Amino acid sequence: MALSASSLVARSAWGQANSYLSGDLSAGNPGQALASALSAVEPREKLLFDFGWKFQFGHGTDPARDLGFGNGQGDFAKTGEFGFSKAKFDDSKWRVLNLPHDWAVELPFVRDDVQQSHGYKPIGRRYPETSVGWYRRVFEIPESDQGRRISVEFDGAFRDVLVFVNGCFIGRNDNGYAPFRFDLTDFLSYGAKNCIVARVDASFGDGWFYEGAGIYRHVWLTKTDALHLGRWESYVRAEVSAGLATLALGTAVKNAGIRAERAKASWEIRDREGRTVATADAPEQSIAVDGSARFAATAKIANSELWSLENPYLYSAIVTVKSDGKPRDAEHVSFGVRTAVFDADKGFFLNGKPLKIQGTCNHQDHAGVGAALPDRLQSFRLGILREMGSNAVRTSHNMPTPEWVEVCDRMGMMMMCETRQMSSSPEGMAQLEAMVKRYRNSPSIILWSIGNEEWQLQNEEAEQGAKIAATMVRRCHELDPTRAVSAAVNGENDKGVSDAFDIIGFNYGLDRPDKFHKEHPARPIYGSETASAISTRGVYATDQTRNTLSAYDTNHPDWGETAEEWWKFYATRAWEAGGFAWTGFDYRGEPTPYGWPSINSQFGIADMCGFPKDTYFYYKAWWSSEPVLHLFPHWNFEGREGDEIPVWVHSNLDEVELLVNGKSLGRQTVPRLGHVEWKVKYEPGVIEARGSKGGSVVLTVERETTGPAVAIRLTADRTEINADGEDVAILKVVALDKQGRPVPTASNLIGFKVSGEGALIGVGNGDPNCQESDKEPRRSLFNGLAQVIVQANRTAGHIHIEAVKEGSGGTELIPAKLDIVTRRTEARPSVALSG
Ligand code: GAL
Repeated sequence: MALSASSLVARSAWGQANSYLSGDLSAGNPGQALASALSAVEPREKLLFDFGWKFQFGHGTDPARDLGFGNGQGDFAKTGEFGFSKAKFDDSKWRVLNLPHDWAVELPFVRDDVQQSHGYKPIGRRYPETSVGWYRRVFEIPESDQGRRISVEFDGAFRDVLVFVNGCFIGRNDNGYAPFRFDLTDFLSYGAKNCIVARVDASFGDGWFYEGAGIYRHVWLTKTDALHLGRWESYVRAEVSAGLATLALGTAVKNAGIRAERAKASWEIRDREGRTVATADAPEQSIAVDGSARFAATAKIANSELWSLENPYLYSAIVTVKSDGKPRDAEHVSFGVRTAVFDADKGFFLNGKPLKIQGTCNHQDHAGVGAALPDRLQSFRLGILREMGSNAVRTSHNMPTPEWVEVCDRMGMMMMCETRQMSSSPEGMAQLEAMVKRYRNSPSIILWSIGNEEWQLQNEEAEQGAKIAATMVRRCHELDPTRAVSAAVNGENDKGVSDAFDIIGFNYGLDRPDKFHKEHPARPIYGSETASAISTRGVYATDQTRNTLSAYDTNHPDWGETAEEWWKFYATRAWEAGGFAWTGFDYRGEPTPYGWPSINSQFGIADMCGFPKDTYFYYKAWWSSEPVLHLFPHWNFEGREGDEIPVWVHSNLDEVELLVNGKSLGRQTVPRLGHVEWKVKYEPGVIEARGSKGGSVVLTVERETTGPAVAIRLTADRTEINADGEDVAILKVVALDKQGRPVPTASNLIGFKVSGEGALIGVGNGDPNCQESDKEPRRSLFNGLAQVIVQANRTAGHIHIEAVKEGSGGTELIPAKLDIVTRRTEARPSVALSG
């Protein structure tokens, strides 16, 4: 099949191979174990507990359909009587699945406006049949584990979780985003089968956006000595001056054994190549039974490498606790050496160099999988943002997954890390502490956020807000004296919560920062949330009857701004540290400005699949250092001959000339931080943009009127992935015309046959109005594109994917085939499957 030069040129801005998209991160294999910070080192074991769970829906109101749970008064009367969490309970009819799992994305859509925020999924108290899920897993604990402390750790689940083990109630968790852990030691049978059950109730929500339902993050089984390092107690704080890094090292050791112990903590600092560059010891201490002790030391790294966006250099500290010279527990802490400073006059500085924050806010939600993103998909998404020239993400409005933070550490992206509840209640403080302790060693994090748009605390209850924020900020500073604390504030920044902040965040409202800066010249400022510009990928006229929005950068709700408006504002004020656009990707829920049948938002710079909308190239032009020349719209407007079509170019070159079927419509100088546009009477053929710099043409791009689709093309982000049961390949499905050109308007329904050593885990197309299933092996193309996500199983081999046209109408399409190699790999240690 012929590929014309022009179609290659037209794709160049997006199709270029780059290390983030192809998965070749400089440090580590992105398909594999990313959760290495704070990971286990012998003799500790940290086992992935994701595989081979059983699942069944329960019921929010009817005990008879909820395993009899709540049937009468005495559920919690005695210990050990929950029969459903004993190994012998019959779950043979339950569904087998692997975690992470989001059951909400599997449900049909319901036309119920109350469910709009949840992407019209039937989740909540009014949907008791689909809002409670039971997870069950039988597992073995060897006799040799006697005497160790064994815990189950959930990285997060949505939302209220009750955990039972071997008939006993163990504990509960009442929020959708913070990790939680339970010590199971006393409840386990050694040398025998055990059973864990989690009842997950998604009836209550945390947010106003799609949040998923179920155990949508990883679960771990951790085994330590009775004398062990406290959870998230290890920290490494680096200060650097003239190349010499001074490290403040700290940890806490707990003694859960039956006799007092003498213990000593030591640190071995390793560089990126694994060479030991420093060591430190803290004096021995005696720790009573059930007691704990803090240890601290310092170390120095001469000629230290800095963590930066260009060279995200990571060191690691191996923290070991010994008694009588014998290692009893150890962990690996990854950290970086860098400085991050906010200045009220000059903005933000990383390692002493001025740097504008070019950020996006994001929810964790992707086509096909909902909130349950495999690790690789998280690095894929960050790669798309990074490729756009973005250098920061905000984890709106909740604590992120460990993988999202660790990819930022490795890729060289900065992060504003946000907790869910702005509250100094025990729950609010527990969420905040979990976040700060869990992630305080990550160099990517430059800012803690204690919340977002708390109307009450900023206004009527400003006095209460000031106290709550002060308590939270104080605790952040105690746990991490190295970072600034802030929050995303929409409106009042002169009183209430903002009093306590180190730096002031503005959501929207470009009329406010100038005044605030003038009145408070000593307070650093940044854009905690900006834009909320809305557009539909590949659509070039807003159509209210179809719930679509044109992809020119012209639409925003009344509180927002276009990309060009907000970035011009922030880029031209030295005292603005930069900002975070709402949002990098579309997400389910908030279908602004429409409602049903729109099931997802249209705020994304890229769509639900990560396919860029045109505004992506506005940002790329002004955020990246690459030459950019992006011409749009496509040139397939059959039936609109003679109509005036706006033609835009996003570029950072000096001048652009536009040609229509070879005839020049003239040159335009590209305004700094702007774009150029023409009005062109439509006639089929070719439009071409020629971009010049310093007087010579350096880039050209064409859009050609294509013929109808005749064939399907399948490509993958990687054609070789790990056979570890976790890694995924992300496939792009494109319709081509006779000449091999992508057809930008194609909407054919394509079916997918997946066989071999992997499975399809989700499909999508980025259409905010598409109500096709995310889980069925078929999807309509939306403006020429669809996405398929396939996951490797744990046997090396091949995954075969075939894409064929479905449905009887229309022209036939030549099918496409693709083979993904799944290679044998050292999978991360996991809990063995047990019958
Ligand atoms: C903001 C809010 C975001 C999102 C956005 C939509 O006010 O913080 O979560 O709702 O509006 O424009």
